[in-house]
Amino acid sequence: MSDFDPKKVDAVVLVGGKGTRLRPLTLSLPKPMLPTAGFPFLTHLLSRIAAAGIEHVVLGTSYKAAVFENEFGDGSKLGLQIEYVFEPEPLGTGGGIANVSEKLRHDTAVVFNGDVLSGADLGELLQFHHNHDAQVSMHLVRVSDPRAFGSVPTDSDGRVTAFLEKTDDPPTDQINAGCYVFDREIIDRIPRGREVSVEREVFPALLADDVKICGYVDASYWRDMGTPEDFVRGSSDLVRGLAPSPALGGHRGESLVHDGASVAPGAVLVGGTVVGRGAEIGPGVRLDGAVIFDGARVEAGSMIERSIIGFGAHIGPRALIRDGVIGDGAVIGARCELLRGARVWPGVVLPDCGIRYSSDV
Ligand code: GTP
Repeated sequence: MSDFDPKKVDAVVLVGGKGTRLRPLTLSLPKPMLPTAGFPFLTHLLSRIAAAGIEHVVLGTSYKAAVFENEFGDGSKLGLQIEYVFEPEPLGTGGGIANVSEKLRHDTAVVFNGDVLSGADLGELLQFHHNHDAQVSMHLVRVSDPRAFGSVPTDSDGRVTAFLEKTDDPPTDQINAGCYVFDREIIDRIPRGREVSVEREVFPALLADDVKICGYVDASYWRDMGTPEDFVRGSSDLVRGLAPSPALGGHRGESLVHDGASVAPGAVLVGGTVVGRGAEIGPGVRLDGAVIFDGARVEAGSMIERSIIGFGAHIGPRALIRDGVIGDGAVIGARCELLRGARVWPGVVLPDCGIRYSSDV
């Protein structure tokens, strides 16, 4: 049982990034606001914060900041008190944390990257921080292939011993999961008024200064939603109930079709597919791990696999899209094939022709 009161903790969520790896989807919405299993992605994280008993949340915004306040307002619908701190010029992940300092109400803050889908137990993380008398605690997740990430070894007392760059032979499978508990006084040590990276600058400097940084290690569900591939996988995992989210109330199935969407008889929806509000799916369409945003239209006989179809996009009949990203309002002609990560920019029209595209359009 936790004896650490979550009401005495602030949550800080960093949502100011430009999300360049998810372009063109992030041209119209910031990454944490992209629809994911029927909600803006951030709703899943905020509902997890609320479920942990934390009440006060500060969002560090920059890119397309107004969208957040329009959606979440004062946070009361989620049982939270949400405040916003705007960076006219993005200050980086460390600068963004330092910049919210005046809004913090308590001596402890838990900081989240706003694009991580995670099942870590926040109550346990806070209790760990308290029990270890740490100044900073990081959530470290064990992954099956750590080579794609920097790794973070810890000693037998749970203290972080190093921050290591990516290598082909990492000494540990523990990686930084993008969620940290900070004692307030440590936040006040982050340089102000310039761009600072928490991962590359703040943590190594704190370690060199002998600040007590501990690693809370688990093997819970974890995915950084930064790339189209991860976004599609994370969305599918939410729909299939593999990734936990209090916002979904235990939904589990092969697909999720939202109100006002129409799916013709004979269409097949599998692999954690999501069909957004007002979208239209024609007869004989096969959607496998597809993320169809609101108002998109997919015509008869098309096949869409592991791809994202932007708001109001139109996919003509018998098209094939595999590992693709289709920008808002784009039109894909009949029988076109988009393969191997091809991205189509918003509003682009590809004529009916059956041409195969395997790079950006
Ligand atoms: P890419 O451009 O695709 O790398 O995405 P990104 O800009 O979101 O960067 P990254 O994935 O490294 O960011 C991790 C988290 O930190 C995301 O939730 C971002 O919104 C957030 N973030 C990144 N840079 C800033 C910043 O300068 N200020 C604030 N407040 N948040 C940031």
